[in-house]
Amino acid sequence: MSHVVAIANLAGGTTKTTTVRNLAVAFAEYGKKVLVVDVDPKSDLTFALGGELSRVTISELLSRKSSIDSGIVSTSERFDYIPGSSSVDSFASASAFNHLMGEFASKYDLVVLDTPSTPTQGLFMALEVADSILYPMPLTNSSFRGAHRIRTIVKDKLQMAFIKLDGFRNLVLEKEIAADFDLLDCEILESQDLRENENSSSSVLVVSKNSPIAGNYRELAYSILEKLHLI
Ligand SMILES: Nc1ncnc2c1ncn2[C@@H]1O[C@H](COP(=O)(O)OP(=O)(O)OP(=O)(O)O)[C@@H](O)[C@H]1O
Ligand SMILES: [Mg+2]
Repeated sequence: MSHVVAIANLAGGTTKTTTVRNLAVAFAEYGKKVLVVDVDPKSDLTFALGGELSRVTISELLSRKSSIDSGIVSTSERFDYIPGSSSVDSFASASAFNHLMGEFASKYDLVVLDTPSTPTQGLFMALEVADSILYPMPLTNSSFRGAHRIRTIVKDKLQMAFIKLDGFRNLVLEKEIAADFDLLDCEILESQDLRENENSSSSVLVVSKNSPIAGNYRELAYSILEKLHLI
């Protein structure tokens, strides 16, 4: 069975999509079979991966208009993904998603869900099917609140968080995060390499293989695999 992890935070711009993109590559580097699903109707991840013209998206798969095999796109970075769709919320249902998972669960070690910053049907579906939640946490009150809003919806699941540091530390907030979430012992730093790579269809882990940010994401991936007993 694959482990399903939803990357979530109800605050915008907290690096969810960037996290999904780079963790997928890092998990694959550790030899894991990874499927990414774009559940955000904005489909930023799908655009980043160059899949915006996909004929089959999460919507067609959820509504069973297309077979699962026709909806899975393979990348040169050794992970697969299901493209997002602006109409995903019309088809989002946990039972439809669980049915889909039943078809592909044995093929993947990890399924990683990119979720929106707004409380959409797609987000609720993702939270329901996920085995664990991972919160990217820039040190702002709004991202702390955004994670808490989700935590109240999914009380009984593993709730991991990591700090995204983009300037000063905030020890008070960091303590609060550590008290409320399973805070992973690694941080993602602000990165010029990542910014410069924003328009590339390749991950910064491939383009700047030895950059500090690539190392940050490999450490994050390792911590998650350890936490999930997958390594
Ligand atoms: N470590 C980093 N260093 C510098 N910039 C970063 C870093 N991580 C992410 N960014 C940038 O921050 C911006 C927001 O990131 P991203 O789109 O991943 O957030 P998001 O949570 O998915 O946003 P949304 O809520 O709109 O879905 C992007 O421009 C991204 O390139
Ligand atoms: Mg996003």
